[in-house]
Amino acid sequence: MQTQVGIIGAGPAGLLLAQLLDRHGIASVVLERRSRAYVQGRIRAGVLEQGLVDLLHQAGVGERLAREGQIHEGINLALGGRLHRIDLTALTGGRHVTVYGQTEVTRDLFAARDAAGGVILEEVEAVRPRDIETDRPHLVFRKAGAEERLDCDFIVGCDGFHGVSRSCVPPSVQTIVEKIYPFGWLGVLARTPPVAPELIYASHGQGFALCSMRSPVLSRYYVQCSLEDCVADWPDERFWPELKNRLPAEVAASLVSGPAIEKSIAPLRSFVAEPLSHGRLFLAGDAGHIVPPTGAKGLNLAGSDIHYLSRALIRFYRTSEEAELQGYSARALARVWQAERFSWWLTRLMHRLPEEGDFFARMQQAELAYLVQSKAAMTLLAENYVGLPYD
Ligand code: APR
Ligand code: PHB
Repeated sequence: MQTQVGIIGAGPAGLLLAQLLDRHGIASVVLERRSRAYVQGRIRAGVLEQGLVDLLHQAGVGERLAREGQIHEGINLALGGRLHRIDLTALTGGRHVTVYGQTEVTRDLFAARDAAGGVILEEVEAVRPRDIETDRPHLVFRKAGAEERLDCDFIVGCDGFHGVSRSCVPPSVQTIVEKIYPFGWLGVLARTPPVAPELIYASHGQGFALCSMRSPVLSRYYVQCSLEDCVADWPDERFWPELKNRLPAEVAASLVSGPAIEKSIAPLRSFVAEPLSHGRLFLAGDAGHIVPPTGAKGLNLAGSDIHYLSRALIRFYRTSEEAELQGYSARALARVWQAERFSWWLTRLMHRLPEEGDFFARMQQAELAYLVQSKAAMTLLAENYVGLPYD
């Protein structure tokens, strides 16, 4: 097999890249180890920065997003038993975020690839990049038991945190920076009306909680939990009272509970692999970096990576110039580190961290008390939450 760009991974990063390249006449093949049904079944955050919304429109997948996406002009911090609204739009000169599940983004991208005749090979095994330090890299893999080869000009690893591509960058040139957080997030999806029209991030003595949503009839909730916990430790009978306990009384009183239709526990980490390229191999999205979900930046960083990389590849195929490709890693990482900082800052501010001691807890309380009464402090939060500019 032969193509121009070989893409590993059919998550949001891989599918969006394939679609953007296709719009500029550049051929790609996407290799995905799971089935399409499995990929589309993943429940992931869906708070989209405007930059990603614009990119999805450029990719020709903005129609349902425009129809069903919910514009959010504010978020709420719950602390001291009451809500404090952060007016994102007023504080950022008119900007907002759009709530639209990542599941929907992926579904729209799959549909667009199908409509364009895009090549997505599902359930492939043992994908391995080869000759990435030459100008004729290729991928080897197994499909239905047969050994296959895909010759291409470039390979892009969009294979997530547990993928293969990151390990193809030689350790001698690779730097990994990581922080593991000492707690997890228990997430619940329920067919219940969201407790509030905007997201609520709650700081509480028992731990962090987050009230989000997927639609007017589908709620998404999270509570901070121990890394020792498993889903069986959190039956609905424990989850709903504990969530309510961490929310202001008037919010808890209006919360509609119901059977969890999805429940999972995820660890939290901050992680960056530098550089995001080596030879003709490029990394994008979770393959290169991970943020704690507190700032809802994971999907949005995949978006900015793909913005920079697709632009560089389009320039190469139009002009044969490689400068923008060579500058991709530094450009993408500059924005990645800003999102890493914001996600780390909001995570350490909002979560209960007993191992940090009483003084740290008092500093958290003091910072939160200052934050909710300082326009300057709320502006810092708002600017980062709606997303820093791509360029
Ligand atoms: N070969 C082929 N496909 C692979 C391999 C492999 N060796 N390893 C992983 N994959 C596939 C996974 O099955 C998955 O479908 O790569 C895809 C990676 O997708 P994501 O993990 O969603 O990563 P990304 O596209 O970067 O999107 C980042 O997704 O995980 C969330 O929170 C994250 O919102 C962020 C977004
Ligand atoms: C979600 O809706 O899943 C979500 C929203 C905001 C976050 C994290 C997760 O910060």
